[in-house]
Amino acid sequence: MEAIGRFVVLERIGVGAHAAVYRAEDPVLDQLVALKVLSANVAFDPDGRARFIKEARLMRRIDSARTAKVYDVAQLPDGRPYLVLELAERGTLDGRLDELEERGTAITVRDVRAAAAALGASLAAIHDRGVVHRDIKPSNILIRPPADGHPPDGYPGGVLLRDDDFLVLTDFGLAKALESTRRVTAAVGTPAYMAPEQAAVGAPIDGRADIFAASAVIAELLDRTDEPRHPRVGAALDRGMARNRDDRHPDARTWTRDLVAALDGSLAPVTVFHPGDPVAPRPAAEPAPDVVPVVQYAQEPVAPRPGLLGGPVMLAVFAAAVLAIAIALVLAYDYLGGAR
Ligand SMILES: Nc1ncnc2c1ncn2[C@@H]1O[C@H](COP(=O)(O)OP(=O)(O)O)[C@@H](O)[C@H]1O
Ligand SMILES: [Mg+2]
Repeated sequence: MEAIGRFVVLERIGVGAHAAVYRAEDPVLDQLVALKVLSANVAFDPDGRARFIKEARLMRRIDSARTAKVYDVAQLPDGRPYLVLELAERGTLDGRLDELEERGTAITVRDVRAAAAALGASLAAIHDRGVVHRDIKPSNILIRPPADGHPPDGYPGGVLLRDDDFLVLTDFGLAKALESTRRVTAAVGTPAYMAPEQAAVGAPIDGRADIFAASAVIAELLDRTDEPRHPRVGAALDRGMARNRDDRHPDARTWTRDLVAALDGSLAPVTVFHPGDPVAPRPAAEPAPDVVPVVQYAQEPVAPRPGLLGGPVMLAVFAAAVLAIAIALVLAYDYLGGAR
């Protein structure tokens, strides 16, 4: 296939269950685009066609920097419809994970934190606009530079993500407008990331199904780091993936705050001091400077990072010092008394 409508096809960049996606050039507007062409088996089924148009409308309705933009919907001469989408030049999260796996490179907790903050902001953006995605997974998370005028996410990357990578959601083929989710008629999703309620036909679905899937994505990323899972991070993920959605975080912002704060905690160095130690306690370390976000994006609140000096660590150090002085005094008293 060399041309689709007025677009010059450059290469195929993705293929899913229902569509093939091509990188193409628009010679009129002089820009690169992604063309998502519905497969023949779905294109000639009225339901499949309707779903495809609905996908385009939902993406159009969301109209957020956090989702791929839809420029147009058109049709091939053989009748197959296609979407003209904003091209994400840097591929998908899934593609990045594959590349690292091939090279045998572990990702870092900083990557996981950057991904959690971006994914949480994306979920908040679509949920605010009344849409549940229902198929959050690495191959539906695109990577591109931040949109013009939009600040980059406030967190530096690492190995998986660059500092100026911006994550956007795509593939709204299973997405639902919240007002219609009471009538979910079929179990749809991707099993590894799917909330239990999504597997039950007829169950109402809301944004908490996406929180489950996003937690599964973050858990997968964490498994690809070399570091052990911090208990607080484990607790945040367990909550996000609770079987009963009432036990999950109530919304995407709460999820993001909880997870990012937990990941911050597992990044900050902690000085462990045992009261019996013969050495004087070292002062608690300041958080490493690279833990501080580069830019804080006002609409995507970030939990304040408690400084170690004001926290329980300093209290323990202080108590231990007092104890050590008291013991020294008692010993000195005994010693002096014994010598007399
Ligand atoms: N706008 C885009 N920019 C870059 N790559 C894309 C874009 N849209 C889709 N892709 C690629 O095509 C794949 C399939 O697209 P997707 O919309 O997820 O279709 P499907 O419903 O078949 O899963 C994605 O996983 C991704 O690799
Ligand atoms: Mg997909």
